[in-house]
Amino acid sequence: MSKNQLLEYLEELDDSTEGESHSTHKRVSQKRESKKQEMAARLFIRAQEISQKFQFTYKAARFEEAWLLDSLVEIANHQKISDVLRKVKAGKEASVYLCKSGEEIDAPYVAAKIYRPRSLRNLKNDAQYRVGRVDLDEDGAALWKRADVDAIAKRSSYGEEIRHHSWIAYEFTTMELLYAAGADVPKPYAMEKNAIVMDFVGDAATAAPVLSAVDLDVSEARVLLDRVVHNVEIMLANNRIHGDLYAYNILYWDGDIKLIDFPQVVLPEGNPAAWNIFQRDVIRVCDYFSAQGVHCDARKIAADLWTARGYSIGKQVHPKYLDPENPEDRQLWEKQG
Ligand SMILES: Nc1ncnc2c1ncn2[C@@H]1O[C@H](COP(=O)(O)OP(=O)(O)O)[C@@H](O)[C@H]1O
Ligand SMILES: [Mg+2]
Repeated sequence: MSKNQLLEYLEELDDSTEGESHSTHKRVSQKRESKKQEMAARLFIRAQEISQKFQFTYKAARFEEAWLLDSLVEIANHQKISDVLRKVKAGKEASVYLCKSGEEIDAPYVAAKIYRPRSLRNLKNDAQYRVGRVDLDEDGAALWKRADVDAIAKRSSYGEEIRHHSWIAYEFTTMELLYAAGADVPKPYAMEKNAIVMDFVGDAATAAPVLSAVDLDVSEARVLLDRVVHNVEIMLANNRIHGDLYAYNILYWDGDIKLIDFPQVVLPEGNPAAWNIFQRDVIRVCDYFSAQGVHCDARKIAADLWTARGYSIGKQVHPKYLDPENPEDRQLWEKQG
């Protein structure tokens, strides 16, 4: 790569970080900035090599193209996708693309959700969701190496990388678990690096709208509310709370719904905020259905589902999930007596 090419690439990288505030930008030390640039340069070189074997139809900006190639090459090698056709939606954390399936998949299209580079990702406040969750590695297995666990706690650059992958792995493993349990979620096919491949909801011409963009008549709304509640119940039975459930994370297609967007799932057993997060999910779902004319007592629905699983409201947290070094945990411990 010539020096000019490299400079051009780096300018593009700067464009793609536009979302970061000026002051944040200033604060970023020069050392970190040059590390970022070095990583970007490496990414472009890798992408150049990959593009000799794998190309796709979608016309992306250069940085996005490099990121896509790098994120999807293994998935393409494993015959899960054969082409990227278009971008369906660009989010703050991830973008979703319509892809043509590879030979391994028995459906014409799949969706690829590709997380933005860790350094450019607009990190959701993930701390409250991660309480009581064991971090996962890139294959979705629990991380057990002391060095890895320590790196995450120290927030070293390596630790942040593992934490980023754990976030993605929670989304994929949750989809696997829920799909197997019969929940209405897109069938998950593969997770590699920053990407998750799943069933595409919609058809070649149109992606399914999110429920918030759909007006239902009351009778259909009633049926779909029951359906969502049924799914929330399946999740709870599988020790999962969505954590960000609302009408923007439910797709509507052909009279059916699919729940999506799971990286922040909460484990009810281990998180002291579990009941509050659970109740918030149910309230936000009911906000949508109430606006569609369905009577919906969110607090009662939430309390019934919660207590039916044997949880008490404001329930105690098992001591094994409390960290004696953490002042908040200590307080809780003392309160629980
Ligand atoms: N399997 C899918 N099929 C079709 N569209 C999808 C699929 N998954 C996600 N999308 C689209 O991409 C958007 C973003 O996906 P989501 O998982 O909610 O990520 P984000 O974290 O960016 O909100 C969704 O609102 C939806 O429009
Ligand atoms: Mg979403």
